[in-house]
Amino acid sequence: MKLTHASCLRGTITVPGDKSVSHRSVMFGALANGLTEVTHFLSGADCLSTISCFRQMGIDIEQNGTHVLIHGKGLHGLTSPSGTLDAGNSGTTVRLLSGILAGQNFSSTITGDESIQKRPMKRIMTPLQQMGASIHSLKENGCAPLAIQGQSLHAIHYQSPVASAQVKSCILLAGMYGDGITQVTEPAISRDHSERMLCYFGARISSEGLTASIEPEPCLSGRSIQVPGDISSAAYFIAAALIVPDSEVLLKNVGINPTRDGMLRVCRAMGADITVVSENTEGPEPCADLLIRSSTLHGTVIEGDIIPTLIDELPVLAVLAAYAEGTTIIRDAAELKVKESDRIAVVTENLNLMGADVTPTDDGMIIRGGAPLHGAPIACHLDHRIAMSFAVAALGAESDTDILDADCVRISYPTFFDDLNSLIQ
Ligand code: S3P
Repeated sequence: MKLTHASCLRGTITVPGDKSVSHRSVMFGALANGLTEVTHFLSGADCLSTISCFRQMGIDIEQNGTHVLIHGKGLHGLTSPSGTLDAGNSGTTVRLLSGILAGQNFSSTITGDESIQKRPMKRIMTPLQQMGASIHSLKENGCAPLAIQGQSLHAIHYQSPVASAQVKSCILLAGMYGDGITQVTEPAISRDHSERMLCYFGARISSEGLTASIEPEPCLSGRSIQVPGDISSAAYFIAAALIVPDSEVLLKNVGINPTRDGMLRVCRAMGADITVVSENTEGPEPCADLLIRSSTLHGTVIEGDIIPTLIDELPVLAVLAAYAEGTTIIRDAAELKVKESDRIAVVTENLNLMGADVTPTDDGMIIRGGAPLHGAPIACHLDHRIAMSFAVAALGAESDTDILDADCVRISYPTFFDDLNSLIQ
């Protein structure tokens, strides 16, 4: 995919549905009694992997683009899958589903693509084993494929060493099959979509400070879910409109859950002109229209408790920082190394290839912004967020940029390049 310098971005975009919320709508809908109707579902490859896993376990799911009907069979309605469950590239599918599988009365194996088979799974195996689950890594390397022998589980109070919604959600889901109240305490608050949606489905679940608690054997009832636009997808247009001069972009119906909105807070601290046009707080997930105008940006420090609220946006924030005046420091973000690619290494390598001045650190990077960037061949390492971040970088660069494996955007945003092109005047 070749991208060139843009002189102005204008228009309105409705970004696809939130990936985290879409996954959960299928999982919790399958475990609920009765029909769950989902609108604005993300029909990207990751969420389609979740649908296919649940179909393999006997759940009837009708998918017509962004409209999905899930015929839930209740907490104990899943059936033994015929073969290995394939999560594709999706960490959310493997980790959340493992929590559910641990409490079933059948055994299963779950795996995924080359990237998923390198991602750390001990972080879920350890707490699940503490709950009495039988789960092990078939290659004994702490990664998928994971073999799970479902059985009855014990409630635990887990002190998680990482702020990870995938770990937290995995334990809470296993906790539904436990023998008492299961609790998870995190070092910092991670996205709370599971807590909000499980509560909406009727689970007895609560949060106090850094601790989430769930009661066992909830009776979940099928619901209607309107998935908000994914702020992680909106992030690319926010950054693009800020960088390209004379731009004005309206993003419709974006999820602004406070456990996900760190990007907006950081952009504002960098001097960004972002207006929340209309806010809707009626459903379980707050959303709003966002109006973005090009801005003169300056460097900032991104660290501490805000990191989990913008973890997926750090690659594009690094691009933004390269176009800002002064230095931006990202720290406390070692998790970047275990995402779909090592995002510290890949972001640093690609930004430096475009002429930026970026130094990688153990838990982040230091970006000395303001130097003009030029085009370069960008290797995405099959990481969708790298492809989209560098498409944004290309719009402000002086010569053409070639995104080499751009097709990986299908993971979370199949129509990304069409939407981006629609804004270029
Ligand atoms: C997600 C949680 C985050 C995020 C991922 C989606 C989720 O991962 O990076 O893209 O849906 O729960 P971690 O839980 O590993 O931080």
